[in-house]
Amino acid sequence: MMSLPKAEMTIFETMLARRSVRRYKARKVDRTSINILLEAAVRAPTATHQEPWAFVIIQDKQLLQNLSDQAKPSFLSEVGQNSAAHIGQAYDAENFHIFYNAGTLILICGKTTAPLYAADCWLAAENLMLAACAMGLGTCVIGSALSTLNTPETKVLLNIPERFCVVAPIVVGYPDDAIAPVLRKNPIVLANIPAATITS
Ligand SMILES: Cc1cc2nc3c(=O)[nH]c(=O)nc-3n(C[C@H](O)[C@H](O)[C@H](O)COP(=O)(O)O)c2cc1C
Repeated sequence: MMSLPKAEMTIFETMLARRSVRRYKARKVDRTSINILLEAAVRAPTATHQEPWAFVIIQDKQLLQNLSDQAKPSFLSEVGQNSAAHIGQAYDAENFHIFYNAGTLILICGKTTAPLYAADCWLAAENLMLAACAMGLGTCVIGSALSTLNTPETKVLLNIPERFCVVAPIVVGYPDDAIAPVLRKNPIVLANIPAATITS
């Protein structure tokens, strides 16, 4: 196993610090860091131990731009301008980059024949994003690019076999500014059933 960086944050501190980053520095994420992120990803739990994930790493600026240009109108036609506006992004603005000009896009692809492959891939995604945060890297899931990334033409272009699909597209880069932790609603507990209260 490769040597992993010493975490400077506890896992809970990392969970609290992780935010979706939408402004990135130009600095490139190097291959060693990407390998560490992939190593973190594949440590996720996996249904029936199938490990049904595979990865595509894209750092080509022109390709990212082309995919962004394709994904924006496609996402708009799927959800409509109103829903897109709800997520606070002008998908029809010419200069809006769906990948936020991040230098790296990692696609977590799932083998569709494996049971619960999407769950496995999302668990891998969270591992990757927490590891990135602990390493001073920012990430953001780009669900709005999913349809474009899963067209047959794009899959061929990205060397994704037919039996795989893109589950979690995640941009990675060095954050341009610090983002404060966000408040979350308290957990909703639907039932709290202490031991031995059900009599039958
Ligand atoms: C499945 C999924 C899809 C998402 N898609 C997008 C997206 O297309 N564009 C975007 O800017 N953020 C996207 N996000 C990020 C969410 O907007 C973000 O996680 C949420 O607002 C909470 O903010 P936080 O991650 O900073 O805690 C996505 C998150 C998830 C889990």
